Amino acid sequence: MTLTLIAAIDRRRAIGYQNKLLFWLPNDLKRFKSLTTGHTILMGRKTFESLPKGALPNRRNIVLSSQAGLQLPGAEVFPTLDEALASCRPDEHVYIIGGASLYHQALPLADELCLTEIDAEAPRADVWFPPIDPATWQEKSRDARPADEKHPCPYAFVDYVRR
Ligand SMILES: NC(=O)c1ccc[n+]([C@@H]2O[C@H](COP(=O)([O-])OP(=O)(O)OC[C@H]3O[C@@H](n4cnc5c(N)ncnc54)[C@H](OP(=O)(O)O)[C@@H]3O)[C@@H](O)[C@H]2O)c1
Repeated sequence: MTLTLIAAIDRRRAIGYQNKLLFWLPNDLKRFKSLTTGHTILMGRKTFESLPKGALPNRRNIVLSSQAGLQLPGAEVFPTLDEALASCRPDEHVYIIGGASLYHQALPLADELCLTEIDAEAPRADVWFPPIDPATWQEKSRDARPADEKHPCPYAFVDYVRR
């Protein structure tokens, strides 16, 4: 199984506020869709609830929750990360799509990180991506994009692999 963490982080690694994303970057959403479609996305219950139209189409949706018997349309619910990962096939590409609690739990297990590094500081945040230790993570590629009429600040798509 390949395990990838995918996240959009600001300069301080902030990722959200009041269960919402911090920035609206159409190219980030496009990249997210193109990377994850046809694969498996694994998320915490709060991130699932933040999705405007519920489960994302054309992907296997897995949600973690400790609530016994919780049913979510279009998603499989598991009570632990271990059980969720044990349900995945060896050839499955699993993208951890958040939120903060999932990123913290899954970072030690991840093979790669696909980050959108946003060159701005959100004025308010209440959840953060964990620190990315350069002794563990090697930058593999960086695709920097300027601000434009649809993107209020510069950003870069940065992929890291475990050393
Ligand atoms: N910038 C980005 O790329 C990005 C991406 C995704 C999300 N976000 C943001 O992140 C924030 C949400 O993050 P969050 O950390 O508050 O919530 P979260 O990780 O999305 O969800 C937390 C919930 O997941 C369940 N959970 C987590 N670990 C579990 C485990 N090991 N076993 C069983 N259940 C488990 C629990 O649900 P129960 O309470 O039901 O037990 C827990 O309350 C939002 O602001 C969202 O917008 C940002």
